[in-house]
Amino acid sequence: MPIYGTRPEAIKMAPIVDALKESKHFQCVVTVTGQHRTMLDQVNNLFGIEPDHDLNIHQQGQSLCAIMTRTIDGLDRLFQTDKPAAVIVQGDTTTSTAAAIAAFYHGIPVVHVEAGLRSGDLFSPFPEEANRKITSQIASLHLAPTSTSKANLLAENVPDKDIVVTGNTVIDALLNTVQKEVPFSDPRLEDLAVSGRRILLVTTHRRENQGNAMQGVGRALARIADAEPDLMIVLPAHKNPVVREAVLPAVEGKPNVLVTEPLAYGEFTRLLSLSHLVLTDSGGVQEEAPSLGKPVLVMRENTERPEAVHAGTVALIGTDENCIVDEVDRLLNDAERYNSMAHAINPYGDGLAADRSVCAIAELLVVGVRKKEFNALRDVRIAVS
Ligand code: UD1
Ligand code: UDP
Repeated sequence: MPIYGTRPEAIKMAPIVDALKESKHFQCVVTVTGQHRTMLDQVNNLFGIEPDHDLNIHQQGQSLCAIMTRTIDGLDRLFQTDKPAAVIVQGDTTTSTAAAIAAFYHGIPVVHVEAGLRSGDLFSPFPEEANRKITSQIASLHLAPTSTSKANLLAENVPDKDIVVTGNTVIDALLNTVQKEVPFSDPRLEDLAVSGRRILLVTTHRRENQGNAMQGVGRALARIADAEPDLMIVLPAHKNPVVREAVLPAVEGKPNVLVTEPLAYGEFTRLLSLSHLVLTDSGGVQEEAPSLGKPVLVMRENTERPEAVHAGTVALIGTDENCIVDEVDRLLNDAERYNSMAHAINPYGDGLAADRSVCAIAELLVVGVRKKEFNALRDVRIAVS
């Protein structure tokens, strides 16, 4: 039983749902919490997933405690009648940790996809660093995306035999989706695609950035828009009204800032492939953009995804307004700096993570054996050649 509730979990779980449905070993029963509503349904629709159970917990302005308690309560009732052989949770959202706790209390083994990411700061990202550490304590199988995440788990005394390095399923989703080159539903994006203008793609939503830092992001975007009239800044706005109220007032009316609703995944990945550079605080976008050779400026103080930073495609710049303006300016106007970052690398996966994950789950349930682990140096070279 895959259980998920938000947009990024849905994107990263979709390849696993597909692989489970293909496998002769499993009956796949999809449960969503509905922590996100529109942004979750958008992904399920794209991938053709019709959930078997929907806890429908979403509330406007929901608190972390409400997400946690409503998920546990809903699953507590579901597990009375529907007891899966294992549950699969993904990442570090509150849905994910609540589902892991509910399953653990019911004696159901927990499989953790994207296990072992660590920023090293319990309060950043908040509450995700705590969420993923809690899930690591109670999972039976840890599907680590990279050897770095495996090393993090080993350092916390998770037994080696319970960890499998799979690659990140986001690369499976990306590679399947980006090649389709879907049309944009917003005609302004279709016009932009043929215009040849340079695009700065921006996304922001992190809880610890909400408030002053996010208002500073809005002011920084307004300054960049004024200084670079030929550039088009595209901001697919997160549904959270708190995010919109912080960022959007500063850019309102700017002719070269295009604010959209959340884009369907196919459209977003196409826009990513058309972009010149990316400014974001998203986890998933940090993983996707490097594989398309797009430089990424991350508006955070730290990251649990150090691989692309080490490879030089991602730079951590924090959330200071002046710093954002300066770093974007450098990348737009210093060709050497741009070229040093704009190379396609793929430390996060080779597109086969879902298959490795499902084989590892089969081994956990004693109906199969795991596959050879993902090794970025070996497998990405093979995938590229
Ligand atoms: C959640 C996750 C975060 C993940 C992010 C991906 C937690 C605590 N946070 O943060 O780890 O990176 O999703 O985007 O699990 N809303 C809607 N419709 C939607 C989605 C959101 O209206 O489809 C609004 C609601 O007012 C909601 C608010 O956005 O209260 C925040 O949503 P929530 O899921 O609580 O937190 P995110 O910031 O989205
Ligand atoms: N994404 C999308 N449409 C958008 C913005 C992002 O489909 O308008 C995708 C993006 O490609 C990535 C995921 O959403 O796979 C990231 O979600 P988000 O930034 O909300 O969460 P995070 O990854 O930070 O948890």
